[in-house]
Amino acid sequence: MKRIGMLTSGGDCQALNAAMRGVVKGLSHNVDELEIYGFYNGYKGLIYGDYRLLTSKDFSGILTKGGTILGSSRQPFKLMRVPDENGLDKVEAMKQTYHKLKLDCLVILGGNGTQKTANLLREEGLNVIHLPKTIDNDIYGTDITFGFYSAINVACAAIDCIHTTAASHNRVFIVEVMGHKVGWLTLYAGVASGADIILLPEIPYDIDKVIKAIDKRTRDGKGFTILAVAEGAISKEDAALSKKEYKEKLKNYKYPSVSYEIADQIEKRSGTEVRVTVPGHTQRGGTPCPYDRALCTRLGAAAAQAIIDEDYGYMIAMINDKTKRVPLKDVAGKLKTVDPDCQMIKEAKTIGISFGD
Ligand code: F6P
Repeated sequence: MKRIGMLTSGGDCQALNAAMRGVVKGLSHNVDELEIYGFYNGYKGLIYGDYRLLTSKDFSGILTKGGTILGSSRQPFKLMRVPDENGLDKVEAMKQTYHKLKLDCLVILGGNGTQKTANLLREEGLNVIHLPKTIDNDIYGTDITFGFYSAINVACAAIDCIHTTAASHNRVFIVEVMGHKVGWLTLYAGVASGADIILLPEIPYDIDKVIKAIDKRTRDGKGFTILAVAEGAISKEDAALSKKEYKEKLKNYKYPSVSYEIADQIEKRSGTEVRVTVPGHTQRGGTPCPYDRALCTRLGAAAAQAIIDEDYGYMIAMINDKTKRVPLKDVAGKLKTVDPDCQMIKEAKTIGISFGD
């Protein structure tokens, strides 16, 4: 008999359901009796005891369904130790729910913040298994996170569409790509869609170099330029500011996001008309791509095997195309960023893509 709790936390992505299905299928094929408690809306469900007993039927037919059948919410890690508005100790509440239901393990699907809380629960003596979810691909200790490839498809499709209209109107276009503080999604979507300039948080940009790259295209007879700009992109000047100075700058920031600031600077300095497109949360929505479905099925099956083995306290990672149990204590709180000197960036530069550096 196994009693499993399951929750999805943080920003959603396309293949959460596929991952949960993988876990449940893996367990139901190998365990005589199985009880699955689905907690609603992330850690909130565990804190406030909002859950439902699910059966394997609930996980049937959801391989291709985006979002999460359990719902999700953001519960910032830094507030986990802070009592809620009624004075409830959230960590104690989660432990109580876990023990009341006599769970063998909690399967927690989420990104970096979620992983930190999963590790906290491990330190508090709960059995946890974490599955690395995020379109940002910024979880340390795994080659890939689920949601990333699906999001590349969406971001890439947006840039593809911009290409045709940019070419018709001879315009400069900025497409702002999600990714939080890292540039994985922008790098892959930008290269895959033939962006001319790619700006990443890991490579602070010089606006003069960006304008130079646009001018060069114009001189070469290319009427339009596409910039793929990460939402976390940062200029050289801003990167040189202290944390305090940067916070001060943001207080008086007049742009909706960095892309609009870049557009404004290009327009003012070069007189070129610039349009900004923000695909935003579409990048997290819709159907998971086939790669993510297969990835999640594998991660789910490997999570099930860890539970069968009663081997807890891990993130199930994908490393060199092999699933691996990576100790949560070794990875929680670490960020996987793009190496500015990586081969992919060198190759992109070889074919003339500018990174504004
Ligand atoms: O972490 C996933 C992500 O989509 C980031 O790329 C983005 O910065 C953030 O979540 C947006 O968060 P929210 O859905 O809370 O607006």
